[in-house]
Amino acid sequence: MPKDGIERVETGIKGLDKALNGGVPRGNLVLISGGAGTGKSTLSLQFVYNGAKLYGEKGVYFTTEQREDELRKQATRFGWDLAALEKKGLLKLIFLDIVHKVNFYETIETTIRTFKPERVVVDSMVTLADSMSITDFKDLTAISFAQLLENVGPQAQVQQAEKLITRNILYNLYSALKQANVTALLVSELPEKSDFLSADEISEFISDGVILLHYLGIGSAEFRSLQIRKMRYTTHEKDYILYDIANTGIEIKKEAEIKV
Ligand SMILES: Nc1ncnc2c1ncn2[C@@H]1O[C@H](COP(=O)(O)OP(=O)(O)OP(=O)(O)O)[C@@H](O)[C@H]1O
Ligand SMILES: [Mg+2]
Repeated sequence: MPKDGIERVETGIKGLDKALNGGVPRGNLVLISGGAGTGKSTLSLQFVYNGAKLYGEKGVYFTTEQREDELRKQATRFGWDLAALEKKGLLKLIFLDIVHKVNFYETIETTIRTFKPERVVVDSMVTLADSMSITDFKDLTAISFAQLLENVGPQAQVQQAEKLITRNILYNLYSALKQANVTALLVSELPEKSDFLSADEISEFISDGVILLHYLGIGSAEFRSLQIRKMRYTTHEKDYILYDIANTGIEIKKEAEIKV
């Protein structure tokens, strides 16, 4: 237990744990936000991979983006043997197929209840929230469409109602993850010039933390940096942190300069 009394979940990415004063506070739900190709999936997969491999902690990676086989293949390029950890019962990869829609909430809830992971990734929240409907939450006290429309008044714009529905879906998902006591990374794609920190414009407020990933390409040079914009229950580095996507995954550069 660190000096501040807050239990940590180490990402296993050295400079990042240092920037977080030891790791993500256990139980935090952290938004991983950034543009296309910034490394959101790599960072998130590394979090559950390291959890299982280095710390023996069970993890689940829910993905709407890549099938299980593609994930295993991609991981091999970083030298991560996911199948071995799956066999040991330390890791689950679950593809949520948004084309052949099943009840995603039920899949997530049942997996977490039965597998009891310590680490969870949802990649990505955007496609998931878009393809979930309020009826997925029939077991919860989700408010009905009629109530939602009532809330936005008789002049209700469809857009406003949709925002409320997304918000409601997110709240329910967040509260289910909170109740399950997991530490989660929730991926959200972000357009480069967004004024918000998440695509749904609400996740940054209900999350315990936000890590923003940036990419800048000048000619053939690439600059990747991340910033911990918010992390409840801990002090953390506020500055931009340079990183690379190397052949072992995310690597923090100039680690010695990180002082928390
Ligand atoms: N084995 C590798 N070695 C080095 N760099 C890699 C490797 N694999 C992927 N990359 C880099 O990582 C980038 C993609 O990373 P990742 O898929 O984690 O990003 P993302 O933010 O999840 O992207 P998306 O928005 O498409 O979901 C690639 O564009 C490439 O530059
Ligand atoms: Mg991705």
